[in-house]
Amino acid sequence: AEDGYDLWLRYRTPATTSSALKIEARGDTPTLRAAGEELRRSNFFATKAPTILLATATDRDVAALRLPLAALGDEGYRVGYVTLGNRRTLLVTGNTDRGVLYGSFALLRHLQTGGSLDRIDLTSTPRVKLRVLNHWDNLDGVVERGYAGASLWDWWTLPDFRDPRYTDYARANASIGINGTVLNNVNAKADSLTAPYIAKAAALADVFRPYGIKVYLSARFSAPIELGGLKTADPLDPQVAAWWKAKTDEIYRSIPDFGGFLVKANSEGQPGPRDYHRTHADGANMLAAAVAPHGGIVMWRAFVYAETDPEDRAKQAYTEFKPLDGKFASNVIVQVKNGAIDFQPREPFHPLFGAMPKTPLMIEFQITKEYLGFATHLAYLGPMFAETLGSETMQTPGETVAKVVDGSVEHHTLTGMAGVANIGRDRDWAGSTFNQANWYAFGRMAWDPTLGAAPVAREWAAMTFAPSPKIVDPVVAMMMGSREAVVDYMTPLGLAHVMATGHHYGPGPWVANLKRPEWNPVYYHRADKAGIGFDRTKTGSDAIAQYSPALARQLANPATTPERELLWFHHVAWDRRMASGRTLWAEMVGDYDQGVGYVASMRRQWDALKPSIDSARWTKTATYLAVQQREAQWWRDASLAYWMSVNGLPIPAGTAAPA
Ligand code: GCU
Repeated sequence: AEDGYDLWLRYRTPATTSSALKIEARGDTPTLRAAGEELRRSNFFATKAPTILLATATDRDVAALRLPLAALGDEGYRVGYVTLGNRRTLLVTGNTDRGVLYGSFALLRHLQTGGSLDRIDLTSTPRVKLRVLNHWDNLDGVVERGYAGASLWDWWTLPDFRDPRYTDYARANASIGINGTVLNNVNAKADSLTAPYIAKAAALADVFRPYGIKVYLSARFSAPIELGGLKTADPLDPQVAAWWKAKTDEIYRSIPDFGGFLVKANSEGQPGPRDYHRTHADGANMLAAAVAPHGGIVMWRAFVYAETDPEDRAKQAYTEFKPLDGKFASNVIVQVKNGAIDFQPREPFHPLFGAMPKTPLMIEFQITKEYLGFATHLAYLGPMFAETLGSETMQTPGETVAKVVDGSVEHHTLTGMAGVANIGRDRDWAGSTFNQANWYAFGRMAWDPTLGAAPVAREWAAMTFAPSPKIVDPVVAMMMGSREAVVDYMTPLGLAHVMATGHHYGPGPWVANLKRPEWNPVYYHRADKAGIGFDRTKTGSDAIAQYSPALARQLANPATTPERELLWFHHVAWDRRMASGRTLWAEMVGDYDQGVGYVASMRRQWDALKPSIDSARWTKTATYLAVQQREAQWWRDASLAYWMSVNGLPIPAGTAAPA
């Protein structure tokens, strides 16, 4: 039965079908072997088997073809027919084995999406260097904000037992170009740096290595105290630096290609350099010095906001990090969330993008849907990734977040995209079939941020179901508006962080009594009798001043602020006229209702697909859509009831049909 285990790699066939396939690999490396095995799994070549040659650019026959391969870099690929000794050969090549592996997956994708076996001409090079999953996996198996079961890593049976599933994980990641994985939660326990856990991480690194995936660890900044018995973790203390150097050397003895560290410091109670009145750069550079001799890097998160800081939470990361531009070591990359608060259904792009030109910035997206309905709600995140990446910073002409992230406008070679993984031990990995699309889209868009959400959705739908327009068209249609529907029924028009406390599932705009003011939804929406929204102009927190002058000018005026971000930047009257001619209140009510309506329409589209989709995947999705519709109504009705208790207004005629 179809259970979703194969993800989008649905070409597993009985071993016999591809026996006619002739694959020649030049060189016997684990990566070339993995590439060959992957091609052999598919039955695309069963009837008409071409000769496939897997070889790097240095192979004598490939070199003789004088193909323009240099531009492919060390991960790009070229797949196409060539003539070798009078024989038409399908050549899969690149400058490295990894390029060949990515080319093999590209070939399979081409065939899975309905491409012809006769005409093949595939060339691609990743635009972003580090394409990394962040697992928020704790050592006890619980995944923070994880909705797909326990951690995939079975720390109890590692390092001895290498679950074949780890290989399937690596295959799935390699198929979309992911080349790094941070194994443990950013809220890290020092234990993950002890010898037993280093051995476990090393076992995983061994499994992942042939697939071009490096292992990284989240490091707890106070580990020198907890594990080393030191009195301090002050980054400028020579003993502290020496402890990290020795620890790092120990890791590299087990994992020679260890990627480096990810650090969450001085954020939400985590220790960090600020505890010793040092800067984030002091902390990052100390760790960077430890990994530098081994070629490692440090990914230092900019997700900071302090309990004691009365400043608008949306401003704090910029305030803290912007003055540090140019102060980070060359093997440090600062990891910045897509928006300035926290993975909301919609956030304007983070003002740090474009504001630290001397520092490589890595963008962090959340693939797991902490604020978008967990595993059950269908929300394709491709449009959200694309929206942030395509945002214009207006720092220099034509500058977008994508061009900051890919290093092109600021001339950085260290570039990266991180995605907080949605993967767990559920049979279908991600908690639902459609959640798999978000993992897929993250990888594809990290490889090339310009791909576009719809083409990526089409690929995924064709590979996951079947490459027939009768399936792909409606599935993609459902997906493309699904995230906007979540925005509509949860946080329309720039609202944010109105979710229930702690778990963030379901509405809670009325919550006002949490001990930290910036955890309360009322802090974000500021609704009162007169209006709603967070004034981030000069009359309020002036957060807009953190954007480029040109963009700040635009955002200073509600009339030139995109309506979808209106309440993020402005406190406006309930009766404000919107572009539609409706009042803000009527518009909000309409949006909530539209979100609910979209879910109802997805259910209808999905119902119509019943004959075309295997029953296991169809039924689970149908059930989840029913849950989503119920909960979208809950969001709408609870939110509207609360706003009405504040503004005293009635439901405008013609909107919000009763549940
Ligand atoms: C969110 C999330 C936390 C997480 C934090 C982070 O606030 O709710 O669980 O630890 O982000 O990104 O560090």
